[in-house]
Amino acid sequence: MIDTNLPLTDIHRHLDGNIRAQTILDLGREFNIALPAQSLETLLPHVQVTANEPDLVSFLAKLDWGVKVLASLDACRRVAYENMEDASRQGLHYVELRFSPGYMAMTHNLPVAGVVEAVIAGVREGSQAFGVEARLIGIMSRTFGEAACLQELEALLAHRDSITALDLAGDELGFPGSLFLPHFNRARDAGWHITVHAGEAAGPESIWQAIRELGAERIGHGVKAVEDPALMAFLAEQRIGIESCLTSNIQTSTVPSLARHPLKTFLEHGVLASINTDDPAVQGVDIGHEYQTAAPAAGLSRDQIRQAQINGLEIAFLSAAEKQVLR
Ligand code: HPA
Ligand code: ZN
Repeated sequence: MIDTNLPLTDIHRHLDGNIRAQTILDLGREFNIALPAQSLETLLPHVQVTANEPDLVSFLAKLDWGVKVLASLDACRRVAYENMEDASRQGLHYVELRFSPGYMAMTHNLPVAGVVEAVIAGVREGSQAFGVEARLIGIMSRTFGEAACLQELEALLAHRDSITALDLAGDELGFPGSLFLPHFNRARDAGWHITVHAGEAAGPESIWQAIRELGAERIGHGVKAVEDPALMAFLAEQRIGIESCLTSNIQTSTVPSLARHPLKTFLEHGVLASINTDDPAVQGVDIGHEYQTAAPAAGLSRDQIRQAQINGLEIAFLSAAEKQVLR
């Protein structure tokens, strides 16, 4: 139920959560990295979610094999390029790809600014090769603490003109947004947009904090907003966008079933909520699955799915003129 007359967007997609299993095998062989299995079929259960995980942190551990094989900057460039090929194969017209350069650099001690450069180059080449428009969102992985996040921020700021926004991802319960105020002050000074993973593992107060203290214009997931009527009204009035990722929220046990997912309620309250993937390769889904299977299972009507598709471009980090070109 994708409206083929409208642009199809995915504005919440981690490129370091979307590394192909085949690429993990290839890079493992190239760099002599011991993998838990040697064939695509036997590797898949190690690098993909096979059953819902008990919580966000267990889900995030599934991303680790992807970054463990990033033993060179060229490998980073390759996965960025392949992300653009995947976006094109999935019929996307516009993607916002996000990545945590410190997480990608971590296993093999790559220079963090070098990772940022490699990702920018891979996405640029892939965008040209496959004709998909893209923007990059830098992530600070809160799980590794304030100092590591500062290092990620500095590396991203070294390429500030190629980065559109800053995000905070990782362990939301263990590392509240209040720890990262100085980081976001600098991001806003750089003229970047702000989106924050909030209200996924923690409650509505985490969303309020992301908006009021960190300056978030959009919220990643935001599922817990439904627990706070004042927040729901505020999101709608202030046109704060919600980046919903339906299957991801089931796989992290954030929401018990698609039937109980709040996306439908967001749309009923006039909140600008959109449909996105999150970590498609790790989740074993694509954007088509989220529109055609997950959204109907979440109780969305055809019109509501269409509204979510419209919202994806509406809340994209693009100027009015850039959006017009895509329409
Ligand atoms: N939440 C927080 N951090 C993440 C996620 C998520 O859903 N996916 C990848 N990093
Ligand atoms: Zn995410």
